[in-house]
Amino acid sequence: MERIAIFASGTGSNAKKIIEYFKAHPNIEVRLVVANKPDAPVLAMAKQQGVKTLLLDRPGFYQSEGALEALAEAQITFIVLAGFLWLVPPYLVNAYPNRIVNIHPALLPKFGGKGMYGMHVHRAVKETGETNTGITIHLVNEAYDEGDTLFQVRCPVTAADTPEQIAAKVRQLEHVHFAPVIEKYINALNS
Ligand code: GRF
Repeated sequence: MERIAIFASGTGSNAKKIIEYFKAHPNIEVRLVVANKPDAPVLAMAKQQGVKTLLLDRPGFYQSEGALEALAEAQITFIVLAGFLWLVPPYLVNAYPNRIVNIHPALLPKFGGKGMYGMHVHRAVKETGETNTGITIHLVNEAYDEGDTLFQVRCPVTAADTPEQIAAKVRQLEHVHFAPVIEKYINALNS
């Protein structure tokens, strides 16, 4: 049995898709939603879906191995970052080797790294005049957006697209692909 913790800090639309996708799954369960802001809408969504939540505080997350205990208590075996903006500390990367994945709303290595999140990414894509963008699902290591890529898919960007329209196209790709890619990766890990 694989038990997933989803780390998210925002609206949690990806988290919701993932929770729904694995609801009736025989061997993968979303057990916990972890957030770093008490007012993050993702927390309310998780409660509504009947998934336990955990709120992180920065000192606890970075200065002690605070999160590990809660993850162990929930018997978490796999971590999904879905809009989680804090850098994952080394103790967590080491505790879950090859078992942390992130989604990035662009085609890494383009438009990645510190500060490249949310609309910053889509505005940069627009300003650079890219003719396509997409999503990257990748393993997490100790640097932002630098782990091995598991999956990429692209969508066209036209000259008329606004950053908001680019964001909507990318979000659509995330919602379609993230959960199945997680499932496929976990199955491969276990085979
Ligand atoms: C997504 O675009 C994802 O790529 C990211 O943050 C966003 C989260 O959106 N890194 P949501 O909270 O799942 O709606």
